[in-house]
Amino acid sequence: MIDLRSDTVTKPTAAMREAMARAEVGDDVYEEDPTVNALQEYAAALLGKEAALFVPSGTMANLIAFLIQARPGDTVILAEESHPFHYEAANLSRVGGLMPWPVPDAFGKLTPDAVEKRIVQIDDPHFSHTAVVSIENTTNRGGGACYDVEEVRALGALAREHGIKLHCDGARLFNACAATGASAADYAQHCDTICFCLSKGLGAPAGSILAGTRSAMRAALQCRKMLGGGMRQIGILAAAGLHALQHHLPDLAEDHRRAREFRAALEANGGAFVMPSPTNILYLRHPSPFALVGALAQRGVFTLPHEADSIRAVFHRDIDDTMLGEALDHFKAAYAETMP
Ligand SMILES: Cc1ncc(COP(=O)(O)O)c(C=O)c1O
Repeated sequence: MIDLRSDTVTKPTAAMREAMARAEVGDDVYEEDPTVNALQEYAAALLGKEAALFVPSGTMANLIAFLIQARPGDTVILAEESHPFHYEAANLSRVGGLMPWPVPDAFGKLTPDAVEKRIVQIDDPHFSHTAVVSIENTTNRGGGACYDVEEVRALGALAREHGIKLHCDGARLFNACAATGASAADYAQHCDTICFCLSKGLGAPAGSILAGTRSAMRAALQCRKMLGGGMRQIGILAAAGLHALQHHLPDLAEDHRRAREFRAALEANGGAFVMPSPTNILYLRHPSPFALVGALAQRGVFTLPHEADSIRAVFHRDIDDTMLGEALDHFKAAYAETMP
C-alpha cells in the first residue's frame, strides 16, 4: 500500500516509539508532566516565542488562537482556500461566535492589499470588528505554497498598524522552512500566535503546538481546558513530538525532492498539475477524479479526489524512493486507463 492521501498517515518509527516508552510522565492538567513541559519549552525556543502549549490537534490550536484573540461578534479574516474556512467544521462560528471573512487568495496566500480592504474598525453598531487575520503556511488547498518571510512581515505590520492580531496556521510550518531556507522563528517573529502540527510530515502520532506571549498562552491553557483538550499523562505523546523535532526536520526536504521528481515524471508523461507544488502537496488535473482515485486504489495507491477536476497526492516520510518509483508506474497506468 502506497498511501499518498496525506502526510497525516505517517506512523511513528521504532526510535520514536522507544522515546515514547521511555518518557517520564505526570498529570499535564496540573502542568506536572515533565516531558510535555520540555516539549513546550523546546518548541517555544524554536519559534522564538515566550511560551508554547501542547494541544491535541491543529484544529484546536487554530480555534484557541481565535478564541483568545477575538470576542464573540468579531471577525476573523482568512483566505478563501484556508483550512479553518473549509475543514474545521465551522468552529469559528459554532464555538466562538466569530464571523469568518474569507478573502480572495493566491494559492491560499493572502496579500496586505486584499486583507486591508476587509479590515473593519468603524464605530458604528452595524459592523462586526476585525480582530484577527489568519494566514496558512504552507497552504493545504493552495498546493503547499509558502510565504516568504518578507510577505509575513508585511502582513504583521498591517495587523499592528490596525491594532489587530496575526495568527499563522503553520500546520506545515517546517515544510515552508525547508522550502525557503527561513527559520521557524523568522516567520514567528511577525505573528502574534503561530501553531504547527507534529502529526503531519514530522511523523508524530498526535499533537500540535501553539505559541505566543506568556500571557496569551495562559489564556490558551484555560481555553484548551474549556474545549476538553486538557489531557493527563501525555508525556508519552510529547516524547514523540520532541523526537520528531529533534530528528525529523531534515527529512522534509527529501519529501519535497520526491514530490518534484513525481511531478516532473508525470508531466513528461502528459500529466498536468492544477497549481505549483513547491513543497509536498500536489494536485494532479484529471477530468474524472473519482475514476482515477478508484483505479489507483485498485493498484494499492491511495489518493484523494479534490474538487471536480483533480486529485491530491501528498509526499511524506513513509514514502521512500522505491515507493515513489512504484507509485509513478501505477499513476501512469491508471491515468492512461481513466482518461476519456
Ligand atoms: C493547513 C492545516 N491547518 C490545520 C489542520 C488541522 O490539523 P488537525 O488535523 O491536527 O486538526 C490541517 C490538517 O490537515 C491543515 O492542513
